[in-house]
Amino acid sequence: MPSLGVNIDHVATLRQARYRETPESPNAEPDPVAAALVAEKAGAVGITAHLREDRRHIQDRDIFELRERITTKLNLEMGLSDDIVQIALRVKPHDVCLVPENRQEVTTEGGLDCAGQIGRLRVVVTRLQDAGARVSLFIDPEEHQLRAAAELRAEFVELHTGAYANALGADRERELEKLCQGAQLALDLGLRVNAGHGLNYENTAAILALPGLEELNIGHSIISRAVSVGLHQAVREMCRLVCGE
Ligand code: PXP
Repeated sequence: MPSLGVNIDHVATLRQARYRETPESPNAEPDPVAAALVAEKAGAVGITAHLREDRRHIQDRDIFELRERITTKLNLEMGLSDDIVQIALRVKPHDVCLVPENRQEVTTEGGLDCAGQIGRLRVVVTRLQDAGARVSLFIDPEEHQLRAAAELRAEFVELHTGAYANALGADRERELEKLCQGAQLALDLGLRVNAGHGLNYENTAAILALPGLEELNIGHSIISRAVSVGLHQAVREMCRLVCGE
């Protein structure tokens, strides 16, 4: 069975909504690190956090503290800018997931264009791997992107499930089929397969059909459900769905 990584960005989103101007306030809450520890206890095999260039949710100190305090593994999601790469090299996360980043977007839109920026990616992937991180590339399930990921010698791809999650009826079936074919090609190319984005308690079960799927990274839906049932319970419910336990 695949395992569950919990993305805690939206815990930080809530904190920043009130405490952006007074980050040192003793009242600043909720704490994404505390949330990560609850998610681990509830069965998450890893914690994902995205340090965005605009620092709209996760802050630098969150990342360093997560690295120090969580006991599973830190999956640092990040764009390709030099200053973020420098921070990653200092944090030394277990895993890095490289994503496209655009300041205007509400959340990550579309996969990384690996085929179109092989040169820059080669530099970043090698530096991160030399620092001990396993690298995952967040891509759409397209053949040329998968081949580029293999050429870059990334350990993993994270298949972008957003189009599947947003589609309905026959379109959703088509998107699922694309993901299954993409996962199979990734395996054939020697890549390991994770997936995520837009997954929730209703659309996740079908994704488990992806060949070789190792890990799902899920954030918004779990944090949303936590408002009603608490974070421990929300993570447990998703773990049951994903990992059957
Ligand atoms: N994986 C990647 C690469 C992402 O960018 C995101 C969103 O930050 C997620 C997974 C989690 O997406 P969601 O919050 O929609 O579950």
